[in-house]
Amino acid sequence: MKKTLFFLLSLLVFTCCVSIKHKHEHHKKHTHYPLYSNIPAHKIIFPSTTPDRIIVNLTEDPAHSFAVNWRTSQQIDTAYVEIAEETHGPDFLSEGKVRRIIAKTKGLETENIDDDEPLVKAAFHSVIIKNLEPEKTYVYRLGDGRKNDDGWSEWFQIKTPNIDKNAPYSFIYFGDAQIKVKSEWSRVIRKSYQMIPEVDFMYHAGDLINHSESDKEWGEWFYAGSFIHATVPSIMTPGNHEYHNKKLSRLWTHQFTLPENGPLDELKEACYALDYQNMKLISLDARSFELHEYSKKAQTKWLDSVLASNTQKWVTLTIHYPILPTIEGRGNTDLSEALKPIIDKYNVDLVLQGHNHSYARGHASNNALGKTVVNNVETIYAISVSGPKMAGSSNLDWMVKEGKHTQLFQIISVSNDTLKYNAYTTKGSLYDSFTLIKGKGGNKKLLNNKVEEIIEKNK
Ligand SMILES: [Fe+2]
Repeated sequence: MKKTLFFLLSLLVFTCCVSIKHKHEHHKKHTHYPLYSNIPAHKIIFPSTTPDRIIVNLTEDPAHSFAVNWRTSQQIDTAYVEIAEETHGPDFLSEGKVRRIIAKTKGLETENIDDDEPLVKAAFHSVIIKNLEPEKTYVYRLGDGRKNDDGWSEWFQIKTPNIDKNAPYSFIYFGDAQIKVKSEWSRVIRKSYQMIPEVDFMYHAGDLINHSESDKEWGEWFYAGSFIHATVPSIMTPGNHEYHNKKLSRLWTHQFTLPENGPLDELKEACYALDYQNMKLISLDARSFELHEYSKKAQTKWLDSVLASNTQKWVTLTIHYPILPTIEGRGNTDLSEALKPIIDKYNVDLVLQGHNHSYARGHASNNALGKTVVNNVETIYAISVSGPKMAGSSNLDWMVKEGKHTQLFQIISVSNDTLKYNAYTTKGSLYDSFTLIKGKGGNKKLLNNKVEEIIEKNK
């Protein structure tokens, strides 16, 4: 009797354990929606059959092509983009006007255990749309090929650059978004768009998110930008937070389609160059540079060769780590020693950076003078932050403007020989401003524009 009772009790305990284990595994491995409907970020994390995380990237030939990327659930294994020249009404939908292109589709499973996020199975789709004409507006949509509108995104507008390379254009530069991206970064990108909705592209200088493998954080980044990501092309440079276990996140390469013309296979979509009208845009991968001696050598040599063969009037280099120091006695010596001589040799116009969670803008020979007009000025360096994570900095001699505890974005407008840079606070107040005027021999005049002392006023 005792033996039977013991057997029955053991059976009961065993059954309970198996059931709990099974439930736990079920919880961890199942991506079915209702199980996670109590997660606040449910809609941000999980894909559906309707396209989300839609983003347009610049290609190496922005006047004739753009890249579009989106995500769905893995139920969608064949996806399409449709594109037409924009019309005033629905005429673009007339017979023969819409071009359909099949997407490249890649499945990806992510499970960010560190942040206790569930398994996410997604399909990432991308297309480089070619054979476009410069200076034209197009409409495009993404979907699974259904005859009706179900399963398709809305039609998004997009424009290609001007055929005249020296015609005016503008872009927005963002420092680190990184944390509280939905909650507190969203208003920064939205304010920037409100201020210049006709902007040509956006440039993110790294640390877009905090944890590279977090589907929730990436979901927040896409949520914050919403349709802006789908209508204003962007490019991005990786920061240290896009790296995990010394590797660039797979979410970076799956979510974006960036140029692959860097010096190493592993630097595709991280270290690259492209021309936008009369500007050469160069992205370097600072984290890879820091991690691997071979990458440092390859990127340094590559930068020299790209600048040696450059024929564009303006050059903007973006790198996540600051090249000039931001705090007394603390700098990225390796980076500075390797890259600054090349930047100087070719007199690069702008170096845009992040990482320090503060603001600084200046040039190496400023010597704390902050003159209104500087003739034959050399490279201008800027460090900025767009998200709410804040850190200290020192007011060093190279800095014309130094600031802390302010979320910022920069509108950079170029018209032939003139480049205007305005930094704005999240409220849209001017924070820093300068103009660069390029002379015939490539020498530049810097005008430090007067900016009201707005910090106190806006508190
Ligand atoms: Fe960083």
